[in-house]
Amino acid sequence: MAELDGRTALITGSARGLGRALVRAFLDAGARVVAWDVDEEANRAMARETGADGDRVVPMTCDLADLDALAECYAEVRERHGAVDVLVNNAARALTKPLWDITPGEWDQVFDVNLRAAFFLTREVTGDMRARGSGRVVNLASIAGQAPRPTGAAYGAAKAGLIALGRVFAAELGPHGITVNTIAPAMIDTPMVRSVGDEVLAALTAQVPVGRIATPEEVARLAVYLAGPHAGFITGATYDINGGALMR
Ligand SMILES: NC(=O)c1ccc[n+]([C@@H]2O[C@H](COP(=O)([O-])OP(=O)(O)OC[C@H]3O[C@@H](n4cnc5c(N)ncnc54)[C@H](O)[C@@H]3O)[C@@H](O)[C@H]2O)c1
Repeated sequence: MAELDGRTALITGSARGLGRALVRAFLDAGARVVAWDVDEEANRAMARETGADGDRVVPMTCDLADLDALAECYAEVRERHGAVDVLVNNAARALTKPLWDITPGEWDQVFDVNLRAAFFLTREVTGDMRARGSGRVVNLASIAGQAPRPTGAAYGAAKAGLIALGRVFAAELGPHGITVNTIAPAMIDTPMVRSVGDEVLAALTAQVPVGRIATPEEVARLAVYLAGPHAGFITGATYDINGGALMR
């Protein structure tokens, strides 16, 4: 029997990058995956490429920046699939800009997706988990929320907020059988990271003790573990997966 047989996982930001790897890893572990992304076409392509049938992987188009849309999407999930067992808050909006140049609109866009949506979606989903007395939440934060980095004001602050939020949810939901944990990766080998170019990437990698960046699969496997049956005594934790780039 696979680790997550019979479980349903809702994964946000599933269309590309780490989200794709998360969907595959959860499918491999036996889960049914409801995959949310704002990019309808890429999300459908992602689902097709897994080769899983339409019952195992269910792509849905949802804009997490819109709280009404978020509530409607979740109501549809509940109606079609019942309460989910696992929520992975992976969707994100990155912003790399000197602090003088960040506009109020950009600040809001980053916070709306990375933090506000995580709060409201987690609250919706864990309301149902609480009624059932069990559930798992895994949040994708970042080393940017732990260590200061020039040009990372909005993104870093939102990710730091997500780490704090995970701890508050863990404290409030522990008595209801729900665990909430956070993964804080450094650079992951995704098209977005590759787009900085070989030279920049080599310079950044040189600062990592293990001398490379993470594969998406390494990060996804950690999420599966935290969502699984052996992780019931882990909650409110932040898992650094950064090749030693930050030791604390
Ligand atoms: N890539 C890295 O090196 C790295 C490092 C540290 C942390 N992380 C974190 O890991 C997670 C995945 O990173 P990634 O590199 O795969 O990101 P990405 O930008 O490649 O993908 C993010 C996904 O979220 C979706 N999304 C964005 N806004 C949305 C919205 N309003 N509604 C619904 N979906 C939306 C995008 O369409 C996309 O598919 C993120 O939380 C990111 O902050 C990534």
